[in-house]
Amino acid sequence: MPTGSLRNTIVSNSWRWPTIMGEDNVRVYGGHALLGHKLALLRDRRTPPARFSQLLKEISLMLLSFATADLPTREVSVITPVGMTTQRVLAKRVGFAPILRAGAGMIPAAQELLPGAPIWYLGLYRDEETLRPVRYYDKLQSYPPVDIALILDPMLATGGSAILAAGRLKQKGVQKVSFVGLIAAPEGVEALHREHPDVEVHVAAVDERLNEHGYIVPGLGDAGDRQNATGAEDPTDEPFVPEELPAEARGQGRLL
Ligand code: PRP
Ligand code: URA
Repeated sequence: MPTGSLRNTIVSNSWRWPTIMGEDNVRVYGGHALLGHKLALLRDRRTPPARFSQLLKEISLMLLSFATADLPTREVSVITPVGMTTQRVLAKRVGFAPILRAGAGMIPAAQELLPGAPIWYLGLYRDEETLRPVRYYDKLQSYPPVDIALILDPMLATGGSAILAAGRLKQKGVQKVSFVGLIAAPEGVEALHREHPDVEVHVAAVDERLNEHGYIVPGLGDAGDRQNATGAEDPTDEPFVPEELPAEARGQGRLL
């Protein structure tokens, strides 16, 4: 478990709605059985790129559903084929800000959940020496404005990319910024909240730490490379077993 101010972050195997952790604003959803199952498959070094991308979309659908649960709503009257009812609909304009390249894998889920929502692309890569984010593409617009923006990026490592993205979105007049990702390092969450304490973090897991290369441990490796088959080499020749049945159901001793 992470140390410091994240010590109390709820990570539970028996599912309950994760609470906002005081001023940390961190919600961790990996205790959800199906989400946790998919995350285990995604982390597995044998999972090939196409399956990895599919799992990323599936997990993103779940995370984005949870992350949008508390969006502001307003009352409307709806006439159904059999009567009239008062319902609630979203009251604010919501947009997505995927950080290229790895965040692109979360766009299909965002578009499925909120078709037509603006997608503001932000191209960042980490300088391998300094680990600082380098901005190479920026399509954040001031018009049409959105009230709430969800940053999409599978990984929150040192936090540099998320800090830069949140700053740019605020500069563009976005009132509320949240980060939605798969795996965070405690160092990254703390750095993000030092700069932007108001940014909610919605992730599947907060892992142990960063290694000396700025990679999350145990993490899942390089999220961009794993989606796009651009890693240096195939890390394993062990076969990937695509079945997702529980091990007992197939008489095997492990999850796959
Ligand atoms: C990864 C990831 C984040 C960033 C996180 O991108 O997708 O954007 O690193 O690291 P940080 O929290 O330390 O900033 P990467 O630089 O590997 O670029 P890519 O997605 O284009 O491969
Ligand atoms: N970016 C990744 O893709 N993975 C990490 O572990 C850290 C940064």
